[in-house]
Amino acid sequence: MTRIFSGVKPTGHLTLGNYLGAVRRWAETDQHRADALFCVVDLHALTVEHDPARVRRLSRQAATLLLAAGLDPAVCTVFVQSHVDEHARLSFVLECTATDGEMRRMIQYKEKSARARAAGESVRLSLLTYPALMAADILAYGADEVPVGDDQTQHVELTRDLAVRFNQRYGHTFVVPKATQPQVAARVMDLQDPTSKMGKSHAATAGIVYLLDEPDVVRKKIMRAVTDSGREVEYDREEKPGVANLLDVLAACEGGNPEELAGAYESYGALKKDTAEAVVELLRPVRERHAELAADPGYVDKVLREGAERARGMARPTVDAAYRAIGLLPTG
Ligand code: TYM
Repeated sequence: MTRIFSGVKPTGHLTLGNYLGAVRRWAETDQHRADALFCVVDLHALTVEHDPARVRRLSRQAATLLLAAGLDPAVCTVFVQSHVDEHARLSFVLECTATDGEMRRMIQYKEKSARARAAGESVRLSLLTYPALMAADILAYGADEVPVGDDQTQHVELTRDLAVRFNQRYGHTFVVPKATQPQVAARVMDLQDPTSKMGKSHAATAGIVYLLDEPDVVRKKIMRAVTDSGREVEYDREEKPGVANLLDVLAACEGGNPEELAGAYESYGALKKDTAEAVVELLRPVRERHAELAADPGYVDKVLREGAERARGMARPTVDAAYRAIGLLPTG
């Protein structure tokens, strides 16, 4: 059976980008067609400036939202990364497989380290080694597929390279995974700056729709989205990134093709209005279910406990095999 692994990092409240690029697909199709694991990757949240209490809160919220979005613990495994030691164990071995040049070439490292330096903050070493931990997340489970948004494909490519290299050097140990992406909305853009990704840890929030935003807040953000000069509704990501982004979001909500949808609109205002309503309706059940689940933290804890136990059992043999293969002395 196909094995799927993916994760979400608790560095901010989950966004419409996370939902359309990743989480919705996990719930609607991935968990039903494969042996799937979905993880709140809390160790990754420590790679940038963080507040411990906030990371804890966001980890719980992210796990609750994954369940609210429809992940069913009876058919898939939902857990928190730090509850399973194998991730950190394998990460070091993969740091010994990767080169520093490879890590420095990662776009996210370049962008995030530049942002931190510009803000006068230091750059944590773990921000550089982050892709080794991400590779460990994936390779520990022998995942065949990694459903992610467009921004994570470079990390999954690196994971493939590391798996192939390790297998060649030390003997076949890892499955070589591949990234999968949604057909539309693989990269949802910021509504105020449609040339950059809608990112949950960005400081300016007016262009970001969070999954838990109230309907009126969602409407306001979408109605105020930056559009482009001209008046014609056309799907052109280069020339009209704002309008194209709205068309992508609308197409992702309603099904259909953003280019064809463009033909149905005569004004930016009408497009915004329909997009706002479509997003409100898409998120409504998630918000409602989140409120129910948040009232029962004991249930969420139980899901995470059982998920971690299952995940541990799956990861352990592969990580042990990697330790043996690379030359570490087995425990007696
Ligand atoms: P993270 O937490 O930034 O995002 C979680 C998922 O949401 C997708 N995504 C988007 N998709 C479309 N448009 C956007 N604006 C948008 N923003 C985010 C991401 O591509 C991702 O699929 N490094 C990962 C977390 C991670 C991981 C893993 C993922 C750690 N280990 C192993 C897969 C497998 C990250 O920071 O995702």
